[in-house]
Amino acid sequence: MALPREDYRRHFDESSSCPRSTLSFVGRDAELARIAELFDEDVVFLIYGVAGIGKTELAYRALELARTRPGWSRAVPTLIQVQPEMTVPHLLAVLRQRTGADAARPDPLGARSSSLAEELDAVSRALEAQPRLLFLDDVHLIDPAAMTRILGHLARRVRASRVFAASRLEVPLASLGITPVITRLAPLDDRAARDMITHLGRRLGIAVSDVTGILQRAGGSPFFLQREVVSSPADELQTASDQQWLAKLVSTLAGWTLAKINRMIAKTNMPRISVATPMLLRIDNRRTP
Ligand SMILES: Nc1ncnc2c1ncn2[C@@H]1O[C@H](COP(=O)(O)OP(=O)(O)O)[C@@H](O)[C@H]1O
Ligand SMILES: [Mg+2]
Repeated sequence: MALPREDYRRHFDESSSCPRSTLSFVGRDAELARIAELFDEDVVFLIYGVAGIGKTELAYRALELARTRPGWSRAVPTLIQVQPEMTVPHLLAVLRQRTGADAARPDPLGARSSSLAEELDAVSRALEAQPRLLFLDDVHLIDPAAMTRILGHLARRVRASRVFAASRLEVPLASLGITPVITRLAPLDDRAARDMITHLGRRLGIAVSDVTGILQRAGGSPFFLQREVVSSPADELQTASDQQWLAKLVSTLAGWTLAKINRMIAKTNMPRISVATPMLLRIDNRRTP
């Protein structure tokens, strides 16, 4: 369905603001407590971890909590998602534009500043003029030496804003004598992982029976937990009402022609049919001589 023009605009305008964390956020209490504890003393916060471990989600949550701190409610959450193939000049251009550094340029149509340091000075000034909660996601996609210089520059010059960065690889800021706050994300603990399965099950309207198996296979990775729950076999996904519906369906189908069954399937709601299909096939196999 096409969005009205007004909505397109709003969607575009908001695309650089930071999304809220998921309503079913679980665990990570110790990590969030540590970030909160160091929030006033430090400027750069790095979140490290493998793909799918929950770096982005943790940063969204941390920024959401930061905005509830006294003096930070007006800070503008600003997301910059680094893309594969993004070059350093491209990232700098996005940084300038999103932080409003471009607007402050004396001659916005004139020649671009030549050095990295000049470009970063403009960004730092913008982050001082307007407090922001800047989140650079997936910075491992940028050349590590350049990324180290960028974050190092901001760490030394910015005080009024906070800069969060998520990365699969370490950014060697210590080589510049800077010690950012580092959070290394481990898999979710058992309790948080169980909570996540419960939340997901409730949201999807399914009863997950093999929680232990899912925990073993996913090993506490939020990404794999999600994948396991969503792809649980149909037998595990059934709710009581699905079972009743299926029992009625099977007894009715006994007297039906294939054409009639197909017509009924065409009219039935899809999630239920997808749950029922593997079972119907099994019943059908048993009937085949
Ligand atoms: N603490 C959490 N509570 C609930 N869901 C989470 C949590 N951490 C991650 N997720 C979910 O798991 C998936 C992977 O997390 P994500 O933050 O995208 O990982 P990463 O950024 O490390 O690749 C996402 O769908 C995310 O919403
Ligand atoms: Mg991510």
